[in-house]
Amino acid sequence: MPRYLITSALPYISDAKHLGNLVGSMLPADVYARFLRLRGEDVLYICATDEHGTPAELAALNAGLEVSEYCRKQHAVLKGLCEGFFLAFDHFGRSSSPQNHELTKHFADMLERNGLIEERTTQQMFSVAENRFLPDRYVVGTCPHCGYTGARGDQCENCTNLLEPGDLIEPRSSVSGSTELEMRETKHLFLRQSLMTDRLRAWIEQHEDWPVLVRSIALKWLDEGIKDRSITRDLKWGIPVDRPGFENKVFYVWFDAPIEYIGATKEWSDAHPAGRDWKSWWVDPADVRYVQFMAKDNIPFHTVTFPATIMGSGEPWKLVDFVKGFNWLNYYGGKFSTSGKRGVFMADALELLPADYWRYQLMANAPEGADATFTWEIFADTVNKDLADTFGNFVNRVVKLVAMHFEAKVPAYGEATTEENDLLEGLREHGGALTASLESLQFRKAVQSLKAMWASGNIYLDRTAPWKSIKADRDAAGHVLAVSINLIRVFATASLPFIPDTGARVLRALRIGPGSSRWLPGDFSSELRLATAGSPVDDPGVLFKKVLPEDVAAWSARFAGSERR
Ligand code: 2FM
Ligand code: ZN
Repeated sequence: MPRYLITSALPYISDAKHLGNLVGSMLPADVYARFLRLRGEDVLYICATDEHGTPAELAALNAGLEVSEYCRKQHAVLKGLCEGFFLAFDHFGRSSSPQNHELTKHFADMLERNGLIEERTTQQMFSVAENRFLPDRYVVGTCPHCGYTGARGDQCENCTNLLEPGDLIEPRSSVSGSTELEMRETKHLFLRQSLMTDRLRAWIEQHEDWPVLVRSIALKWLDEGIKDRSITRDLKWGIPVDRPGFENKVFYVWFDAPIEYIGATKEWSDAHPAGRDWKSWWVDPADVRYVQFMAKDNIPFHTVTFPATIMGSGEPWKLVDFVKGFNWLNYYGGKFSTSGKRGVFMADALELLPADYWRYQLMANAPEGADATFTWEIFADTVNKDLADTFGNFVNRVVKLVAMHFEAKVPAYGEATTEENDLLEGLREHGGALTASLESLQFRKAVQSLKAMWASGNIYLDRTAPWKSIKADRDAAGHVLAVSINLIRVFATASLPFIPDTGARVLRALRIGPGSSRWLPGDFSSELRLATAGSPVDDPGVLFKKVLPEDVAAWSARFAGSERR
């Protein structure tokens, strides 16, 4: 039995997180982790805040705080939001932790020892007006590949190509807007990843099962030729470089951030050293399957640069087994924008509706095969049809009938009927597809199967119509409702990875406590007789309110951008 190590890309400390960020890494990773845990697998789900780099320094400056204090506060805010969305990390760490400092220095030392680090004198953009060297991402301009005018000096977020500041057309400082930039000489450490090209290619090619998006971005990168990259920056905030002449420099945020996957695991382990062993997850583990989740702009760093660090260390650190990459979620076809306040951010979302509405809709519309778009119309449609009319309605119909006619207790069972056999067949088909889709991390398909399962419950009820038969044949009606109570359990269990709060609430109404659920079996034939006749059935209340046309109107106006509060 493998153990599963799951990581989602570490959110930058300084950005407000929007729904696109959520669905592009943390949420699907959580769905997958929950599914595996329900199957009884040994799972470790790790995430952390990515705290270094210029954006954090600047955001702290704007907030009038020391950067360490700013990060401490923001970490708590983000942690709270993640909890609000029921993201069940085993640990939510911080890339500024002592553990990450130690590990990052260790990796740099090992790379140096293996001849993979070189000190080079480079030309770097110096902002005369600000009297400082500008880290790459603080030079912005027009992308030479796609023409996007807001491209950063390290990467164009529009076309994902990696850039050098000197590649940008009409460069300017994103700090001050100054165009008075000149190249000056400075020293940096370079990771000689070009030396590892063949090894990286062989490793990537061996992963034929990776999604097309991931493989194509990784191979495109290799085909273009892997350049050696500078792993130091002219900043104060970060992991210091212990080397003469590097006193004002720190490691580049993209060097230390992925190492924090290991660092955060050590944080988790250090918190309870008796029962946890971080090394057993990371150092040459024979039984660990490691799955990473990220949006497409992160793919090169996870398929090339971080593996280069790991391989280059010459130590047997765990390499990723499966990379689940996501496309962009757009907002009405355009970008979510933090600065333009366009689109829905995690904090806004929780203010409007409970987390499960968002979790379900985002996974149903996940940008898996292609970019996807968020609109309030699609949101309302999914919530109303799937959650309110299909799942919610089934549960409420059954619970109400049982309360009305059977004193809110599971009625006695009778003989299996044709309708029940058809139902079982549907459960087998859709339940099997749901399990298979989750195993293969195909989330949109998984949601379709979940919905089909729920729908089969309503079809069963409509065909058997216990509200009609109750007068003429109370036993037959009771049997249908008893079977339906079991269906509620099956449906709620299947929903737990996606809508964990509602799923648990429904199960509580059946007096099934947290932690006692197990994932769906392949064969459902004994599943529909599990609830004991006579046992109580509570009313969980209305599970999902409908999103009304006036909500759609109000919310689309509120989150359109300029007119937002
Ligand atoms: O794109 C981002 O939000 C980065 N902070 C992701 C870092 S992932 C990892 F390598 F740390
Ligand atoms: Zn571009």
